[in-house]
Amino acid sequence: MSQTWNAQQYINHASFVAEYGLPVLDLLNPQPGERILDLGCGDGALTSRIKSSGAEIYGVDSSASMIKTAQTRGLAAEVMNGEDLQFNNEFDAVFSNAALHWMTNIDHVLAGVFKSLKANGRFVGEFGGEGNIAALLRGMETVFALHPEFGKFKSPWYFPGVNQYQQKLQNMGFKVHYIELIPRPTPLKSGVREWLKLFAVGITNQLNREQQDTFLSEVENLVRPDLLIEGQWVADYVRLRFAAQKT
Ligand code: BEZ
Repeated sequence: MSQTWNAQQYINHASFVAEYGLPVLDLLNPQPGERILDLGCGDGALTSRIKSSGAEIYGVDSSASMIKTAQTRGLAAEVMNGEDLQFNNEFDAVFSNAALHWMTNIDHVLAGVFKSLKANGRFVGEFGGEGNIAALLRGMETVFALHPEFGKFKSPWYFPGVNQYQQKLQNMGFKVHYIELIPRPTPLKSGVREWLKLFAVGITNQLNREQQDTFLSEVENLVRPDLLIEGQWVADYVRLRFAAQKT
């Protein structure tokens, strides 16, 4: 089963996601009057920032709960699967923060973004890249290996390296102006257990309640030596940031 989202839980435990997105917004450099698509807009926290630049922003997200919250913020937004975008030559730019790693059918995503953009339109974003949450993934895989009754571990995420993603962008017809992997250790104010509860639902929802508790406790114990730093939980995030253009 796939990831499901609860917007309030997200706001309580993951508001840092939008705060860390500000450098990507600078890279986007939205201009008044531009029409911009926010792909995977979530609860709309960053979408609002883009709107305040004077651009006309439209948000899409696969989560109805997130879109409801974005609409409550006064944003134009609708539920849409990022792997099946329904736009044609409409946008001056497509922006995406911390969402593309959830869309594993990357060729469909890139084809949809390309089709959504006007000629020379920009595609600017950031998401988890190669090496992202390596310790967390190791911990999750290990706990599944220790408990065959949990079934087979399958990562729900796509974390490409620079060369792979650049090639995919170019194959689709984008010119890549900038692409970089950026290690960004990220403090988790709510701790690693809350992070797992929020973000690993696609993994834990195949487990019963008792197995979920075992999973959370054992992953927490396994990653503690790597991720509990001077009393503060820090996730081992690595971002892939890029700016490309439709040619
Ligand atoms: C990320 O932003 O890198 C991320 C968030 C949740 C799960 C996996 C990766």
